[in-house]
Amino acid sequence: MGVYDLILRRRSIRQFEPRPIERQILENIVGAARLAPSAANLQPLEFIVVDDETLKKELLRCLKWAAYIAPLGNPEPGHEPQAYVVTLVDCRVREKGYEYDVGAAMENMILTALGEGIGSCWLISVDRPRVIELLKIPEPYKIDCVLALGYPAEQPKVEELRDSCRYWKDPDGQFHVPKRKLDSIVHFNRF
Ligand SMILES: Cc1cc2nc3c(=O)[nH]c(=O)nc-3n(C[C@H](O)[C@H](O)[C@H](O)COP(=O)(O)O)c2cc1C
Repeated sequence: MGVYDLILRRRSIRQFEPRPIERQILENIVGAARLAPSAANLQPLEFIVVDDETLKKELLRCLKWAAYIAPLGNPEPGHEPQAYVVTLVDCRVREKGYEYDVGAAMENMILTALGEGIGSCWLISVDRPRVIELLKIPEPYKIDCVLALGYPAEQPKVEELRDSCRYWKDPDGQFHVPKRKLDSIVHFNRF
């Protein structure tokens, strides 16, 4: 499948199948982050892959899902993520301005995962002090965000954004994601 088709299919996934992800695939996902664009090629990011059962249970407690509809977006029992990538910044390399690198690395990982049929959710609502303790993250590293991974057990739908950017779940549990129309964001040649 081409990259544009993957992008059309990609949605944030918060319900996952109880099927483990092979280590090799997890390595490829972080390998895609490794090769992402990096400002001045400073490469300030490092990654912790979490696939240990006990740590996964603890980490899940440190994350907040789909704030607009909480708690309806929480992974349900039996549908929790199968692995996580915790994205760290080495503050000795960069203290600020690393966010662009994070964005590029995260999208590389998200699309690589999807190419393997794996869904993901990028999370910034993270209880950082708890995760630092749980994963024994030393100074001078800081946690930027977390990527939750697993084979999808839901299929959120894109719809045209009308008056609200809030995603929502209908009574059948279908997740809806409003997106702005192309002609409301694109300008050719002049504004
Ligand atoms: C920087 C960033 C932080 C996000 N943090 C969270 C989060 O903490 N929890 C969550 O459930 N989703 C989070 N998301 C996912 C967004 O809610 C999601 O991308 C948005 O609703 C659009 O849906 P889509 O990804 O399916 O297009 C985050 C996305 C981004 C880009």
